[in-house]
Amino acid sequence: MSTNTAPRANPWLDDLEAYVPGKHGRRGEANIIRLSSNECAQGPSPKAVDAAKRLTGQMHRYADGAATGLREAIAEKHDLDPSRILCGTGSDEILQLCPLAFCAPGDEVIHTQYGFMVYALSARRAGAVPVSVPEVNFTADVDAILAAVTQKTRIVYLANPNNPTGTRLPTSEIERLHAGLPSDVLLVLDGAYAEYIEDPSYDAGLALAKSASNVLMTRTFSKLYGLAAERIGWGYRAPALIEPLNKIRAPFNVTGAGQAAAIASLGDDDWVAHVRSENVKWRGILMEGLTQLGLRPVPGDANFILTQCRSADEAARINAALMDRSIYVRHLPSMGLADCLRISVGNGDETPAILAALGDILKAAA
Ligand SMILES: Cc1ncc(COP(=O)(O)O)c(C=O)c1O
Repeated sequence: MSTNTAPRANPWLDDLEAYVPGKHGRRGEANIIRLSSNECAQGPSPKAVDAAKRLTGQMHRYADGAATGLREAIAEKHDLDPSRILCGTGSDEILQLCPLAFCAPGDEVIHTQYGFMVYALSARRAGAVPVSVPEVNFTADVDAILAAVTQKTRIVYLANPNNPTGTRLPTSEIERLHAGLPSDVLLVLDGAYAEYIEDPSYDAGLALAKSASNVLMTRTFSKLYGLAAERIGWGYRAPALIEPLNKIRAPFNVTGAGQAAAIASLGDDDWVAHVRSENVKWRGILMEGLTQLGLRPVPGDANFILTQCRSADEAARINAALMDRSIYVRHLPSMGLADCLRISVGNGDETPAILAALGDILKAAA
């Protein structure tokens, strides 16, 4: 037996790069304005904070590994069957489990050109092949997705609205996508920003996830509910999709404090309404301000805006100059968006501050 060989990781991991999160400031940097990760500018419900605090004395106890109370609270809120809900360490965990459960090495996983970067990473972790499908005007194209389906396709991921573009397909297009997919292809509808969407015809894919055997809808408490650090996501899907994901998730994947905070959040409709209306207000002001500055924001109804600059150089220069002012947004050259910046919608201090900084930076460069 050879003794001079090192353990060898799966070869498909060789070229894989780890997920790169938005920059959050340099060590020791104070008074940061953090608009790089689409967090909730208003923060969590005070009721959620209280609920989490009440559990600090229970840190030595494992939480309910089945997240029973949380699944029941979600089910009650959305009129769902709790046994079909899976909670995850953020919706990221659920998104990542899908290729592990449903793909063999070499199988194909479709995502759109500017689709959330976790989709391609998740596919590659499982040895599957991510297939990127072109978008039109920063928006997913159902015909192009359907044309990309092959015998090897196992999963189609679609965020609606998508991050980082902020664009969204109408429900009729989601239904057309689902109708055109073979029934053995899993359609993952990622509704991370669903709670921000006020369009009454939008349901984040819930109706399809309730009725279809091949649809998984994912949601999160990280965005409008402001619980990003607690890492709580959930998915809803057909019974046949439950077990494989449940078997391979981590055993105690949602903390006790996180579960308590999420349950309390679901009961605080006033806070949800407050966050929503603040987001609408400051998103409108951000859009208007960016347009007046000569930038080209892409219309969207979540808590961030993708804005096109005049060139990739200009986007890089603005990004660096904002960082010099301790303002962090997201520049995404690795996603083919080198001329764009994604800016989370801030609060009543942050939004005027970034617009003023952008005004100064663009004036200085003129
Ligand atoms: C489209 C989309 N899906 C999923 C996630 C993951 O969120 P979390 O793991 O915090 O639930 C994000 C986070 O930014 C996102 O933008």
